[in-house]
Amino acid sequence: MQHRAQPPGANTAGRDVRFRPPTPSDGQALWRLAQDVGLDLNSPYAYVLWGDRFSATSVVAHRPRADGGDGTEAGGGDDEILGYVTGFHPPGCPDVVFVWQIGVSARAQGRGLAARMLDELLARTGARWLEATVTPSNAASAALFSGTARRHGTDLDRSVAYPEDLFPGGHEAEILFRIGPLGPGSPGARAAVDGTQGAQPQPKDVI
Ligand SMILES: CC(C)(COP(=O)(O)OP(=O)(O)OC[C@H]1O[C@@H](n2cnc3c(N)ncnc32)[C@H](O)[C@@H]1OP(=O)(O)O)[C@@H](O)C(=O)NCCC(=O)NCCS
Repeated sequence: MQHRAQPPGANTAGRDVRFRPPTPSDGQALWRLAQDVGLDLNSPYAYVLWGDRFSATSVVAHRPRADGGDGTEAGGGDDEILGYVTGFHPPGCPDVVFVWQIGVSARAQGRGLAARMLDELLARTGARWLEATVTPSNAASAALFSGTARRHGTDLDRSVAYPEDLFPGGHEAEILFRIGPLGPGSPGARAAVDGTQGAQPQPKDVI
């Protein structure tokens, strides 16, 4: 599908798209979606576990199926999962949310849904910092995290997290994207209080 560039955060992924934490009943759908969009596929158990033990730091984007979903927030019902973000607080870092995986089904890509899921994750967790690793060839993912820093008026630091020699052959290096500070005291929030536009946050690469 050709990518249609639209402002992320705009409600262009459909009015009926809703966000909620995953439940264990979502595990199969998340596993399938990960496979469909070509993410590093973890075991089905990992996705069930995430819906149980890491639901507070994860988000599912869903909409009721045309033929009968009731659109409730209960989870695990007959709804269509369009995307998910799985995350966790790294041990000892309660103000950091680390994105483990993010994926949007092909039919819903390019409409701001991933950006909205990240905003939902930040709102739910109140995290000061958002971290994720991205492979150098993943332009969509790099644009997503860069756009998130820009939208929140804050900084983005990039550094090598895991060089390729840590992996079996054929895996690129993983680059750490660290976004923040977010919320009160962030450059964007300070500029809003000052009534100034503030300096445009610049990506800082230490790769
Ligand atoms: C990465 C992914 C989650 C983005 O989902 P999405 O809902 O299409 O993204 P959005 O529509 O919210 O777009 C967010 C930003 O990325 C940009 N973008 C989206 N797809 C893009 C593409 N294929 N190429 C370049 N930029 C792209 C958008 O223009 C937007 O940038 P902006 O803020 O500068 O306007 C989706 O492409 C996907 O599921 N990819 C496969 C799985 C994957 O690679 N996950 C990330 C692993 S770290």
